[in-house]
Amino acid sequence: MANLASKLHAQPWWLLLVSSLLVSNIHHRVNAEPQVPCYFIFGDSLSDSGNNNDLTTTAKVNYSPYGIDFPEGPTGRFCNGRTMQDIIVQLLGFQEFIPPFATARGQEILKGVNYASGSAGILNESGQQLGENVNMNMQLSNHQTVTARITEMLGKCSASKLLRKCIYAVQIGSNDYINNYFIPEVYNSSRLFTPQQYAAYLIQQYSQQIETLYNDGARMLALFGIGAIGCTPNAMAIYGTDGSTCVEKMNSAAQLFNERLISLVDELNSNFTDAKFTYLNPSGISTTNSLGFTVANASCCDIGSNGELCVPGSEPCGDRSRYVFWDAFHPSDAWNEIIAAEAYATEFSGQAYPFNIKKMAQLQSNNVADGDICEIGENHCNM
Ligand SMILES: *[C@@H]1O[C@H](CO)[C@@H](O)[C@H](O)[C@H]1NC(C)=O
Ligand SMILES: *[C@@H]1O[C@H](CO)[C@@H](O)[C@H](O)[C@H]1NC(C)=O
Ligand SMILES: *[C@@H]1O[C@H](CO)[C@@H](O)[C@H](O)[C@H]1NC(C)=O
Ligand SMILES: *[C@@H]1O[C@H](CO)[C@@H](O)[C@H](O)[C@H]1NC(C)=O
Repeated sequence: MANLASKLHAQPWWLLLVSSLLVSNIHHRVNAEPQVPCYFIFGDSLSDSGNNNDLTTTAKVNYSPYGIDFPEGPTGRFCNGRTMQDIIVQLLGFQEFIPPFATARGQEILKGVNYASGSAGILNESGQQLGENVNMNMQLSNHQTVTARITEMLGKCSASKLLRKCIYAVQIGSNDYINNYFIPEVYNSSRLFTPQQYAAYLIQQYSQQIETLYNDGARMLALFGIGAIGCTPNAMAIYGTDGSTCVEKMNSAAQLFNERLISLVDELNSNFTDAKFTYLNPSGISTTNSLGFTVANASCCDIGSNGELCVPGSEPCGDRSRYVFWDAFHPSDAWNEIIAAEAYATEFSGQAYPFNIKKMAQLQSNNVADGDICEIGENHCNM
């Protein structure tokens, strides 16, 4: 309240109102504002946009034919074009993609940062047989570096008000299965835990990570489940499908994780009432054929003999919009468009629970219409 009083003292309220209307009008005409001011991304190769490029790892793809359908060519995205998160960011009305932590500079961090890293997991050790990665715990500490910089730029009060208006998208966990539990030659986890116990262990770690994010100011959290990891061309080639369409033991392990993640979302929503959490199912709808996808069991690019990533410099398939998979693990731009549109706008609670991304953005703007005003550079909050 002291805030508002000093604001009124400094300038007549109607002048503030008129000038802010003018500003928002101009913005709307020239350059529509996104539905949320900022979007932070945590995750693995499904969301990475270049964080692994300078790491010592085989899990990086800053070479052709990756990016063949991306305006900037190969960037480190594990896709021919945009990731699902890139497309959600566009649907929210951002004019530019969220910059990767590795190269984000200056003012651009105010719109959000992408911390995702190929091969990373919830557990520190997942994916390490491939080389370095930025695991979820390190991504959270990178985020603390960024929030400290934002606080330096804006002052504590404005920074915390900005941070609670952002959406925080988290999609992690696939590598705790693909690059941990299902590689018994390297990892012990499948001998130490049943699939049920492992899902419980992962969710317990994940829950602490999400609480860290909350403690660093996040109030709008979109938590994505693990996709159908048993249906990737790689999984089918390595483990075989026993006559079914996918590797069932992998899908059912991921399903156990997702079920617990949904319960976690319920728990978080009831424990942290000043925040919103939602679960998104990234598997999309299963009727691939009716959407014009004719190939769901093979990769579009040439994955060579290791059967994983595209062979550098190789010629990919021509009809990329008909392939669900770009390489042996990662969906094509065309498929990402389908699942991004679902996450953004689906009304089906099996896909978005309790609400979709669009609704989350609306709840956010309702939330902040509460009259909180910060003085420039103000260093404490009256809320
Ligand atoms: C994981 O790594 C972080 C540092 O990034 C460390 O603080 C934490 O203790 C590690 N966790 C485990 C279970 O080893
Ligand atoms: C796997 O388990 C064995 C025996 O329990 C232990 O000696 C070894 O350190 C474990 N390896 C890893 C990577 O945890
Ligand atoms: C929610 O609160 C209950 C009761 O205090 C607690 O037992 C539980 O661990 C909390 N869950 C989370 C995810 O914070
Ligand atoms: C993919 O499915 C098609 C038709 O269902 C089948 O003919 C083909 O052999 C499959 N390819 C692979 C690599 O399993």
